[in-house]
Amino acid sequence: MNPKIAKADEEVQKLISKKRNKSVEDRRVGSEIFDKQTLETLYKLANQGYINILNGAISTGKEANVLKGVIDDSYVAVKIYRIATSDFKKMQYYIQGDPRFNIRSNNKRKLITSWVNKEFRNLKRALEAGVNVPKPIVALNNVLILEFIGSNDGNPSQTVKNQKPKDVDDFLNKLLLEMKKFINEANLIHGDLSTFNILNHNENPVIIDVSQSVVRDHPIANELLVRDVKNVYGEFKKLGSSYSLDEIVNKLEIDINLD
Ligand SMILES: Nc1ncnc2c1ncn2[C@@H]1O[C@H](COP(=O)(O)OP(=O)(O)OP(=O)(O)O)[C@@H](O)[C@H]1O
Ligand SMILES: [Mg+2]
Repeated sequence: MNPKIAKADEEVQKLISKKRNKSVEDRRVGSEIFDKQTLETLYKLANQGYINILNGAISTGKEANVLKGVIDDSYVAVKIYRIATSDFKKMQYYIQGDPRFNIRSNNKRKLITSWVNKEFRNLKRALEAGVNVPKPIVALNNVLILEFIGSNDGNPSQTVKNQKPKDVDDFLNKLLLEMKKFINEANLIHGDLSTFNILNHNENPVIIDVSQSVVRDHPIANELLVRDVKNVYGEFKKLGSSYSLDEIVNKLEIDINLD
């Protein structure tokens, strides 16, 4: 196991046993990996039965770490937003145009909590529209727990960026069906759709990373939609797809101005 994650898990376990033993004399939880609130949040989630232990890093990104959590004999994905490195300007901008979140806060923690809730709600909405996304399990403060996409023995599925589909056109065709539901039935625009945010799960696409996704009547929705469609076209073309941009737009059954 990655030593940093082993250390993080050790810290969470220590906190759990400390609280269980009610030894209140040391409430100062020193963490080298997470800030105190994150550690407390993980502790709460463990105590509520969402995770037993943290077992390894899946990804360390710009703004979030995704860890593997173990619960009984299965896995979950634990996405932890780092307070210090989050892009608050972007968060504010995306949240302000969203009628579901009527907050105008400069409080960083509150903003991250809204951001995490937004990702949770977007996933739920996509799932209800039948889109292949990880099922959201729980959101608390800066932590989001999701269905783990991978093998039963704990190997996470890779992004399309890292694992090229065997049959690119067939994969793209499946992806377009997922995108069509995402756009036309969930009424959401992803906003950061690329081969980094699509998992290749046994040659089936799973769309992830929907925190920035916006409702279709958001002021920037059209701009984001055009960007997403062009990205998907360009990246899959590089992978060897034979689809034209027009064919993609037709398959999505959307009406957009690409100029
Ligand atoms: N549910 C999941 N199951 C398995 N792996 C996952 C899951 N969710 C995310 N991952 C892995 O973690 C990586 C990062 O996740 P995600 O794209 O949601 O975060 P991110 O917002 O891109 O992070 P950052 O913005 O900090 O770069 C993904 O590329 C994928 O490899
Ligand atoms: Mg991502």
